[in-house]
Amino acid sequence: MINGVKQLNFPVHEDNRGTMVVLEGLKDIPFEVKRLFYIYGTDKSSIRGQHANRNSEFVLINVAGHSKVRIKDGKGNEMVFLLDGSHKGVYLPAMLWKEMYDFSNDSILLVLASTVYDAEEYIRDYHEFEEVQNS
Ligand code: TYD
Repeated sequence: MINGVKQLNFPVHEDNRGTMVVLEGLKDIPFEVKRLFYIYGTDKSSIRGQHANRNSEFVLINVAGHSKVRIKDGKGNEMVFLLDGSHKGVYLPAMLWKEMYDFSNDSILLVLASTVYDAEEYIRDYHEFEEVQNS
């Protein structure tokens, strides 16, 4: 269990034309969305992430295919989520270590972020992250 991390289940609008998922900032997503990016072309051997962000909160959604995310708080707690549905997300508060892995070949991983990109807010060394978390 890691404080603040939670699975989100989004409402779907389904009819005979197909299905729509609508995400509004501060309603379905726990923050105002400032940025989104998506990751594809990955496979079982790909590992993404492997960093912590000092300020950004994220929601991860596999809009196609599936992947897993491992989350660590640097204090000995770890959680793994299977991202396997376009109407399901995982919310990650700031300052958590994350790695995404075990991608299906058809995976499209959509990431919503609470900030615009700032390379300076990244901690890319796990030991440094642990030190910050335990100091
Ligand atoms: P990277 O942080 O390595 O991706 P991941 O977290 O999935 O492992 O980012 C890949 C590249 O994209 C890197 O050159 C930085 C760039 N990038 C941006 O320019 N803006 C962004 O918002 C993000 C997330 C990455």
